[in-house]
Amino acid sequence: MFQQQVFRPHGIMRYGVGCFTVIAVSSAALLTVAVRAFNFENELPSLKQVLLDQFIVGVAVDARELVDPYARVVRRQFGSLTPENAMKPVAIQPAKGHFTFDAADEVVAFARKNDLKIYGHAMVWHRSTPDWFFRRDDGTPLSSSPEDQAIALEHMKTHIEALAARYGDVVWAWDVVNEVIDEKTDDGLRHSRWYQILGRDYIEHAFRFARAALPDDVKLFINDYGTDNLRKLRHYRKLIEHLQDKGVPVDGVGHQFHVRLSTPIHQMERAIESFRDLGLIQAVTEFDVAISETFEQVLTEMPAGSLERQGYFACNVFDMLKRQSDQVVSVTFWGLHDGRSWLKYLPFHRPAENPLLFDETMEPKPFFWGIADQSHLPDLPGFACN
Ligand code: GLA
Repeated sequence: MFQQQVFRPHGIMRYGVGCFTVIAVSSAALLTVAVRAFNFENELPSLKQVLLDQFIVGVAVDARELVDPYARVVRRQFGSLTPENAMKPVAIQPAKGHFTFDAADEVVAFARKNDLKIYGHAMVWHRSTPDWFFRRDDGTPLSSSPEDQAIALEHMKTHIEALAARYGDVVWAWDVVNEVIDEKTDDGLRHSRWYQILGRDYIEHAFRFARAALPDDVKLFINDYGTDNLRKLRHYRKLIEHLQDKGVPVDGVGHQFHVRLSTPIHQMERAIESFRDLGLIQAVTEFDVAISETFEQVLTEMPAGSLERQGYFACNVFDMLKRQSDQVVSVTFWGLHDGRSWLKYLPFHRPAENPLLFDETMEPKPFFWGIADQSHLPDLPGFACN
């Protein structure tokens, strides 16, 4: 099925014309999303080639990106896939001993077939984790008694071992723990159910279980957001130092970098720099660039020039990341196109938020060109690439 559509005027170079596939029709609004079915993607520069000497370039996906035309773009642009949700605890083990690997297997099969890497996300997290992890078999909530601690550890170990057994040979790096810092608590740690039952040692246990279960060359990451915030960064560093002092096998520091146009890039660089002396590798694990000024702000429309600003922002972020490429081994975008970004719907509907490389018709945005080829960035007074 074909449909003519005029591209949105981003003032950027166009490739291919006039050939689209209708991929989604919402019955409520009779909204038609048209996506180019042409092989325009073969004419675009490939980010993984452009950045070949610096980083592995990844993208978060689910089954929707594994079919054409998205799949063709994924294959051409990226070298690593992060299953967006399919490897989270609730997706893998919704009930105790009941493992559901299908969605993750689908991503893994696509990666194997296309010679792409997989970044595993996430073994231990406070969210997307079913309550049974924190209860006895009879439903009683676990306390911090030694007996209950043993049960919580057994749950954690079994879960990590199951992931390792199934994906040990294909996943090159794992977020072993995700979002364990909370800069608002006294000790800077998130007081999640894991923490309440096991104290801060749950983090150490997770890494030790993962190391014992996985091949030696698989990289074990700690991952968090907001590392551009100095207070959070200090707690993150303190925890990692503590883990290193105890000989905990942490290989890498993850920076999610869910940032916004107003995020100072020097603060992102400070986050990376601050781990330089620890002898670890680092990764940007969930990069996207929000247009709104704050997380709470809901834009009804994008301010003029936002997409162009995003292009210059991306260009300057990658200029910084290239400077840090002896530390940063991979950069992953948190979604393929704007229509698939979590920022559109979490924690509330944000239709004007467009934080990714491609728009929802798969048109490459200035964001893409700012990284792939700055000569295609539209002029924007007052903005430049470094
Ligand atoms: C965090 C998580 C991701 C994803 C994003 C957006 O960053 O690590 O898995 O859920 O939030 O929702």
